[in-house]
Amino acid sequence: MPATASSSLPRTARADAAIVPVATPGGRYEIRIGSGLLGDAASWAELPQAADAVIVSNPTVWALHGETLARAIAARHRRVTPLLLPDGEQYKDAASLQRVYDHLLSTGCDRKTLLYALGGGVIGDLTGFAAATYMRGVPFVQVPTTLLAQVDSSVGGKTAINHPLGKNMIGAFYQPVRVVCDLDTLATLPRRELVAGLAEVIKYGPIHDEAFLGWIEANLGALLAGERGALLHAVRRSCEIKAEVVGADERESGLRAILNFGHTFGHAIEAGLGFGAWLHGEAVGCGMVLAAHLSADLGMIGRGDAERIEHLLARAGLPTAAPSMPGARWLELMRHDKKAEAGEIRFVLLDGPGAATVRPAADDVVLDVIRRHTAAAPTAPTAAAAP
Ligand SMILES: NC(=O)c1ccc[n+]([C@@H]2O[C@H](COP(=O)([O-])OP(=O)(O)OC[C@H]3O[C@@H](n4cnc5c(N)ncnc54)[C@H](O)[C@@H]3O)[C@@H](O)[C@H]2O)c1
Ligand SMILES: [Zn+2]
Repeated sequence: MPATASSSLPRTARADAAIVPVATPGGRYEIRIGSGLLGDAASWAELPQAADAVIVSNPTVWALHGETLARAIAARHRRVTPLLLPDGEQYKDAASLQRVYDHLLSTGCDRKTLLYALGGGVIGDLTGFAAATYMRGVPFVQVPTTLLAQVDSSVGGKTAINHPLGKNMIGAFYQPVRVVCDLDTLATLPRRELVAGLAEVIKYGPIHDEAFLGWIEANLGALLAGERGALLHAVRRSCEIKAEVVGADERESGLRAILNFGHTFGHAIEAGLGFGAWLHGEAVGCGMVLAAHLSADLGMIGRGDAERIEHLLARAGLPTAAPSMPGARWLELMRHDKKAEAGEIRFVLLDGPGAATVRPAADDVVLDVIRRHTAAAPTAPTAAAAP
């Protein structure tokens, strides 16, 4: 797919902010991106005038950014209450969801109640699913505070909780009424989380926009240093690409699958090492290296194209060598991936600069690329991503 012209309309007067419109069959809304948005009343203008608002967050994020948001929206609602869930992927579960319902029902929240999801992808996914189901649907606002959530999970309307038997197994497609990405929140993010989020930013280049890949290569230092101008462009372009892809294929019947570049290998790493050993973005970064070289092995791109991606990920501080696992284990994990069809592993592969396609690959070719890119010694992404 060729790189496309920017689809955003800079309808804001501020040079340090951007608005990306999203149009899906499930809803139209704006992604607002900039500095100081959390505390700016204008960020929340024109949202539904609900009597009740609930800010769903966790203690980590609430302590850093909760009051800023609560103050900014106080005048818009009769009552604003925070609901803090424990911090961590393991709490993206039915028990936390139940706590949201309990809070909403016990405080008399009606079907107009507006939910604000203040946090990373865990809070966003769970709050979105609660909003989709409470009284058959209440509006919600995504206020993502991790780079991963700003460029990926808050956009596109996938909401979910985990089940003991699988990640994201219970969920719904449900679009927010707005997404507000305050770049200032990224300043408090641990460096390892920022770097992991960069993997999802980098992802958009190879699959959809070679010029963006070049821009990231040229601006990686500024991104790692947290420079607002660089972050603004990275978040904005990522959201534009995701919005374009999701707008064409909200329910992932085809095109949307390219957003999973690196994820088949990445999910196998996460599941094989035990969830949490590597951050999702770290596993996806390594998965992109494997998928790029697999594409080169199949003659779809040149070896230099694959090495270019590997080099960028290494510069970002992401692991580029796979953890050691038996070949049969890799294949078993990838066959169980949600994206596999009838046991056939399907990979997002690159078939040109800024273009991706989904196709299967023979087991021996896949195992060969893994073997060539497996770390000699156990890898430790924590160390790799240290400042
Ligand atoms: N819906 C989708 O399309 C989609 C896409 C990708 C990922 N996801 C989901 O997103 C989740 C991962 O999201 P994540 O990477 O944001 O993880 P996360 O939500 O667990 O956040 C990572 C950590 O950073 C902390 N944190 C968040 N914002 C902070 C800030 N500004 N300052 C300091 N600390 C902060 C959190 O409390 C947490 O400890 C997974 O559950 C994944 O399944 C969903
Ligand atoms: Zn991802």
